[in-house]
Amino acid sequence: MHTKLVAGNWKMNGLSGDLVEIERLKDGMDAADCEVLVCPPATLIARMHDMAIGSELLIGAQDCHAALSGAHTGDLSAAMLADAGASHVILGHSERRADHGETDALVRTKAQTALDRGLTVIVCVGETEAERDEQRTLDVIGAQLSGSLPDGCLAAHTVIAYEPVWAIGTGRTPTLEQIAEVHGFLRRTLSERFGNEGQEMRLLYGGSVKPGNAAEISALSDVDGALVGGASLKADEFLQIIRAFSDQ
Ligand code: PGA
Repeated sequence: MHTKLVAGNWKMNGLSGDLVEIERLKDGMDAADCEVLVCPPATLIARMHDMAIGSELLIGAQDCHAALSGAHTGDLSAAMLADAGASHVILGHSERRADHGETDALVRTKAQTALDRGLTVIVCVGETEAERDEQRTLDVIGAQLSGSLPDGCLAAHTVIAYEPVWAIGTGRTPTLEQIAEVHGFLRRTLSERFGNEGQEMRLLYGGSVKPGNAAEISALSDVDGALVGGASLKADEFLQIIRAFSDQ
């Protein structure tokens, strides 16, 4: 039984005025029996990190560059994110794969760089609706997994998020059987490659997680937490999800 992780991905949302949600989150988090992480836009990482001091709240980033420094205008390195107070970084989110053409090979290089800087990586995988319709889901996810993870990953610093592309921001979710099937596949595949470390890595489900479906998703074996987009922006909704994952 792994300690669950409920991670909020704020995406390109959040201005100074939204920091009040972090105060509310901290106030409501006392009873949480799981790890709680918020990944705001990079502009808010340092301020959220300062606000989180003295609480259990973890702060992460949504992406990093593959290189540690250099001539990459507008990009942020893993070292900078760690310096700003991030402990985690999401990598290979489908929006980055789609909007920025990120490949498995690039995600793998980013993951290695982030791990080298002491960040915990949350590597995202997931099929499109067409790939599911063509019954290629496990093939696609297997290829993403093997291509996106560097060798030698350790459970303490590696989290995998299964996020079906068609479930992100749509209000649609796979059936519980479909989530269980993919998570079982992830567990087997990771165990084959990383042995006991693969057995221990936490597997998050993401894609339209809401207060109304969190408990049933959390109850599935091999679901060790959630990656939450829209429902993480408001503390009251996010706290309901945190409670659902704490009760399991
Ligand atoms: P959603 O996003 O919860 O808004 O569907 C999840 C994600 O993209 O991480």
